[in-house]
Amino acid sequence: MFLFDRPLPFPNTHPSTYLPLSKEPVFDASKHLALEMPSHCMSLADLGYPPEEINRCASPFAYSDAFRILSNEGVAAMEVVCQEIYGNRNESAGTGANRLGSYARGAGYRSRFIRDFCDSQAVAEHLSKIAGVTLGRHSVPAVACGINYAPDDINRAVDTWHVDSVNFDVVMMVTDPRDLKGGEFQVFKGTRQEGQELLGIIGEEGGDATLPEARISSIPFPEAGYGFLQQGTHIFHRACRLLEKAKRITLIPSYEVLPAHDTDSTNAINMADWTDPGISAELARHEVWRASARLEQLLSDINLNDEPRALGSSIRKAVSQLNQFADKLESHSQ
Ligand SMILES: [Fe+2]
Repeated sequence: MFLFDRPLPFPNTHPSTYLPLSKEPVFDASKHLALEMPSHCMSLADLGYPPEEINRCASPFAYSDAFRILSNEGVAAMEVVCQEIYGNRNESAGTGANRLGSYARGAGYRSRFIRDFCDSQAVAEHLSKIAGVTLGRHSVPAVACGINYAPDDINRAVDTWHVDSVNFDVVMMVTDPRDLKGGEFQVFKGTRQEGQELLGIIGEEGGDATLPEARISSIPFPEAGYGFLQQGTHIFHRACRLLEKAKRITLIPSYEVLPAHDTDSTNAINMADWTDPGISAELARHEVWRASARLEQLLSDINLNDEPRALGSSIRKAVSQLNQFADKLESHSQ
């Protein structure tokens, strides 16, 4: 029996190519967290989104400035764990045939420490206060806990312009950003439609193009352990290339809106083209779980006076995202 007001449990197994760490620190929220509130948040309206689009979103929140998440002890432990996983990061010829330089998605399969951090109720409640909507750890393990490393070739951007396939995510510095030359994290001050137009794309990923300086804002990270929250599906963002070779590690934990029948802008159709091991099953679990929650909600809402046409459209709405996803999966095997 799965519950709809808390995150979907992780699968019982892990992809065979992901090697769990044999020795690592034990996550302890009282020792490793030092949660603070951001000093400023931008809204979707600030970025130019119209009211009708904002009303369809889970929250009017766009992104915050960086705030402290980990204590010094938490940073030290997280850095050791991320370094350990570097040798088992995703293969660039497989999952890496995309915009990212060097990364480990599904880091929660490799590290219990990262998994417990991403699963932390204290972190989820804190982020919920910032976003103004209840958030829980994302149910797709590939994105629930991701690590980005700087690419070996510093001529490559750490991550090029894109919007995310998950509703909300944090970008947290694990290594000290004060040591870096370049590698800034930037957001586009505009809507995703404007960003797409300027980048000349129709999808989510825009390559390493240049956007007008006046439309770009860099997010300052005072030190390691600081991160910021964004409604990732609505913010074009990138991590610039390093100007000098250096260690730059960020942790990207992702979140979705709870309860599970509520708004979900997870772009499972886009993620279904990724080649991460287990990704199709992870996305199927997510979509089946969210559709189950919508159906359960509908079951409690159905009234004997409801008109046939309205009932039909409610049923269709509850399962439409699931059906679209099933179509996408079936298109793979043809
Ligand atoms: Fe992103």
